Amino acid sequence: MRHLLSTRDLDRAAAIRLLDIAEDMADTQLREVKKLPTLRGKTVVNLFFEDSTRTRISFEAAAKRLSADVINFSAKGSSVSKGESLKDTAQTLQAIGADAVVIRHGASGAPRTLANSGWIDAGVLNAGDGTHEHPTQALLDAFTIRRRLRPGASRGAGLDGVKVTIVGDILHSRVARSNVWLLDTLGAEVTLVAPPTLLPVDLAAWPARILYDLDVAIDEGRPDVVMMLRIQTERMRDAFFPNPREYSRRWGLDDERLARLGPDSIVMHPGPMNRGLEISSRAADSAMSTVREQVSNGVSVRMAALYLLLSGNTEEGS
Ligand code: CP
Repeated sequence: MRHLLSTRDLDRAAAIRLLDIAEDMADTQLREVKKLPTLRGKTVVNLFFEDSTRTRISFEAAAKRLSADVINFSAKGSSVSKGESLKDTAQTLQAIGADAVVIRHGASGAPRTLANSGWIDAGVLNAGDGTHEHPTQALLDAFTIRRRLRPGASRGAGLDGVKVTIVGDILHSRVARSNVWLLDTLGAEVTLVAPPTLLPVDLAAWPARILYDLDVAIDEGRPDVVMMLRIQTERMRDAFFPNPREYSRRWGLDDERLARLGPDSIVMHPGPMNRGLEISSRAADSAMSTVREQVSNGVSVRMAALYLLLSGNTEEGS
């Protein structure tokens, strides 16, 4: 794998292989192997033009656990605020010898531009670009679903027949886009639930069923997984901005809806959460919630992605 830009670039075998390598990485953590020597001498740059808590520290932890050197770059406080371009920033990273660049950017397509630019030789990992994609989030979500729903038998498995309902601000969600494509590739049945104003116009091309009513999705759909999305107020114009009380009443996972989910269903959220808006505190903190597991699993999944990009190992099944 040269870059990781979009879950649409992964076929089923490649996705399952990455999830299986993440299982191996998780096993090393269970055996309290703090560091693997795999990427000793490699340099990973975290290039973040947008804020992040989970993704940035997760990539940093993943790279360090593989013994890579890590450089953290935040656009705030850098020469980007003086107007420096992505090209000049990238060429600076090339000059210091970056082997991988983990990029989060507000512009959809920025990671692919960087990967195809010729400005750097490094592998590029998309850590979230605009409203486009967040592939490692989708991979850690798939890893979490597989582990929870196929305990002890997850290696080599897809998510065939698993019913996943994704709820909320689909329009602005790179998490939803990456998840829809990956979950479909892995055989899951995806339903999207949202107010019509928070759905994208190109929805007909998405491999997912659309519903507008969360109660119908829960009571008739009997989902195995309910994935709540953050309302992204920072990306909204007035036309899209929902009334918070109305939104919460119709599309929030409140305590009453939580109680109607099947006993083995799981509740997911990529974080950061708007507690009391798209998800109640009881739902976020319940035994059905995988929110903290998703964060832990993210380190193993990002270790697997960095390993596949930087170890030079291209053999299937090795
Ligand atoms: N899930 C996610 O991308 O969180 P951060 O914005 O904190 O990285």
